[in-house]
Amino acid sequence: MRYDVPKVCTMLEKGGVVALPTETVYGLAASIKFPHAIDQIFALKKRPSDNPLILHVASFEQAKQYCAEVPSGVQVLEETFWPGPLTLVLKAKPGLVPENATAGLDSIAFRVPNHPLTLQVLEAAGPLVMPSANLSGKPSATRAEHVEADFGEAFPVLDGGACRFGMESTVLVFRNARWEIARMGAISSEEFVHVLGYEPKERLGTNGSPPISPGQKYRHYAPFALLILDRTVLPEDVGVVIGFNDRKYPESCRLFSLGSSGDAREVSRNLYHVLRELDMRNVAQAWVDMDFPKAGLWLTVAERLSKASQKM
Ligand code: TXA
Ligand code: MG
Repeated sequence: MRYDVPKVCTMLEKGGVVALPTETVYGLAASIKFPHAIDQIFALKKRPSDNPLILHVASFEQAKQYCAEVPSGVQVLEETFWPGPLTLVLKAKPGLVPENATAGLDSIAFRVPNHPLTLQVLEAAGPLVMPSANLSGKPSATRAEHVEADFGEAFPVLDGGACRFGMESTVLVFRNARWEIARMGAISSEEFVHVLGYEPKERLGTNGSPPISPGQKYRHYAPFALLILDRTVLPEDVGVVIGFNDRKYPESCRLFSLGSSGDAREVSRNLYHVLRELDMRNVAQAWVDMDFPKAGLWLTVAERLSKASQKM
């Protein structure tokens, strides 16, 4: 069910859970004043309790109230990217945010989202915890309809239209005097170079090191369809292609287009919608055209496709 800003604020102030739009993906929001509402988010999503939630705030000033320390670079990062698709993991002042939200960690992930409606809600009823508004393991929701597909038509949604980035925020963590990427996202590692003076490296739990971002260890973003990523040549028996609108594929194939092969921003914006379309149309398997640059935002697209192709 679609509600307006005053109504969702009232619901949040009473301890309810609502879905809100952001520029990245839709989020399932609860006020940190209501630990039981936070529990309800985990239950609704079927999310493992060891996977902490991002605290969404209206400004950096608000985030600072919850931080035990503010490492070097935070100010320039927030001035450059907030409001926007960047999440910063910072050491928490103990006792201010319910433990179920932080999964018992001594840090909190913060973000100031860039959506006019949700900024109004945050001003009135924030701070809010907000994981992506999808069932755990499914592609994130980038439209109000996606939220309703996962949680039912009656679920309260503030409709802010299709998300402008359509890809989650990039999560940065400060470790050993450097910023590292805990989750790849809408801002590519190259985009930090002019701000930090170096390119943050990924700490995704590969090469034997544990993930810094607990969510990285779970399967994610997956439609029911089997995605075939590992073949450069389209297998003959697969009639469905996830590809680009400026490429030619065999006429017998049905194309689910991600957009132009020259526009990573457009492709990342469309990705989850396309993955959800496969389920809507009961597609059993699809071949994915992985012939795109392995740089910039394309790396995030490749990482999401790789996770989406993993089966339980
Ligand atoms: O774009 C986004 O970030 C969206 C919108 C709604 O803001 N939110 C989102 O939340 O993607 P979620 O819960 O789906 O993903 C949050 C990620 C998870 O991988 C989680 O493990 C990580 O952030 N995270 C949260 N708190 C953390 C912490 N204290 N340390 C390390 N990673 C953390
Ligand atoms: Mg998520």
